[in-house]
Amino acid sequence: MIIKFKSKVGNVVTEKAEAILFPLFENSRELSGTIKQLDKASSGLIQSLLDSGDFKGERGKTSIIYTQGAISVKRIILVGLGKRDEFDLDRMRGSGGAAFEYARNLGIKKVFVPANLVEAEGVNSEEGLEAFLTGGALMIYQLDEFITNEKEKKNRIDECVVIVKNRKEAGKIKETIKRTAVISSAVYLARDLVSLPANKKTPSILANKARSIARKNKLKCRIITEAQARKMDMGVFLAVARGSREPAKVIVLEYHAGCDYGPPVVLIGKGITFDSGGISLKPAEKMERMKDDMAGGAAVMGAMQAAAQMEIPLNVIGIIPATENLPGGKAYKPGDILTSLSGQTIEVISTDAEGRLILADALTYAERFKPQCIVDLATLTGACIIALGDYIAGIMGNDDSLITKLKAAGEKTGEKVWQLPLAEKYFDYLRSDIADMKNVGERAAGTITAGLFLKKFVKDTPWVHLDIAGPAWFEKDKEYTPKGASGFGARLLIEFLRDWGI
Ligand code: BES
Ligand code: ZN
Ligand code: ZN
Repeated sequence: MIIKFKSKVGNVVTEKAEAILFPLFENSRELSGTIKQLDKASSGLIQSLLDSGDFKGERGKTSIIYTQGAISVKRIILVGLGKRDEFDLDRMRGSGGAAFEYARNLGIKKVFVPANLVEAEGVNSEEGLEAFLTGGALMIYQLDEFITNEKEKKNRIDECVVIVKNRKEAGKIKETIKRTAVISSAVYLARDLVSLPANKKTPSILANKARSIARKNKLKCRIITEAQARKMDMGVFLAVARGSREPAKVIVLEYHAGCDYGPPVVLIGKGITFDSGGISLKPAEKMERMKDDMAGGAAVMGAMQAAAQMEIPLNVIGIIPATENLPGGKAYKPGDILTSLSGQTIEVISTDAEGRLILADALTYAERFKPQCIVDLATLTGACIIALGDYIAGIMGNDDSLITKLKAAGEKTGEKVWQLPLAEKYFDYLRSDIADMKNVGERAAGTITAGLFLKKFVKDTPWVHLDIAGPAWFEKDKEYTPKGASGFGARLLIEFLRDWGI
């Protein structure tokens, strides 16, 4: 369950609150605004903490003041924002993350946040508030449905009340609160799906989940079964699915803003619910992580839900080819030649390069919608983790202006992307003696050759591919993301769609 956000007209000083959260810049000497009010009412408790030097406002550091009855607020939790001239929205998300985590660990159920948190260059107070609350909600995420011992579960903050001065201010931040809730829920959805183990998210379960999201929001949902995929000639998608006894599905979610909004934007997400490597079996060590191989699909589901909830003025279609990649008696094999939906043939070198295969058919299928553009997200190559680590996704494509838009969305959301060149020369690595192409090149430029492979399945639609193998999963806690499934891509796509829709 996600924290509930509310606003309330009131005064921070007189509020009967268990805890109020507040971010401060490093070395703020002069208090102003809300925090000054709190300081005055509590006869200088905050100022004396700062004077002591015990809390300097360093980035992500927290401190707590017990007001001992001086005011009706019981605790003031201060969190550092770092230096004022280094400030950006991601810092704000990080400070929200640290503050909410601190309150969560104390067992607090309800936190209060004043509406006006920062005055900083280039950031208005609504953006600042949204970033603080989003960072908070995202940091306290947990999936505890499989922990049966209640005592082992972490505390859950149920509610966050944003204190506003008057009705006018309440009106102003209403949208901010709604957007925070919609975006955080989309990330929660994506994280839940990625965190679930493969036995709790088979392609059929994912398809049902998509149906239920569609029912609850204004989305259309179509599930393409294996029999239908066979009729459609999705030969490559079906080949990957053959090693598993779980029926594969292609999930298609559609959001219709209306005919006036023109051709759709298509989002494609890789939906391998478990990647064992198939006959080209992966090593056993860390193989459990391969449940995250549908993180692209999860981000697409989250973004589709948010598009509907925000009523984005844009037609959007989400396509998630979902299957397991397992070695079975009927599994596809290295050396096999497959015929794709596009008609092009592929010589399989490794059955572990399955992501590009299922995406190939999904891309061809996507073009039938005559989209304005296609964006695909996939945990596609280990090479991308080596190149860019877990903070940054790889981006490549055939259209510079589309890439620029996604880079901008990345900067805005903190879900960063870095462009790799789709140098046609490297397609030489994929040349086959016996078919149109191989599915694997050499070790060199592994992320780029995967991108070049995908490019062969896009005719003339502006298209970008995001390789999210790194940032889909965090081995350690980050500023506002607990370790595990990050939900990477959901916020990026939502920002991209919002921007595109204007
Ligand atoms: N799902 C993997 C990519 C991956 C690896 C994601 C590690 C996250 C962590 C993908 O299907 C895969 O196995 N790719 C191979 C491609 C190779 C056979 C060309 C890889 O990266 O090793
Ligand atoms: Zn693989
Ligand atoms: Zn994979």
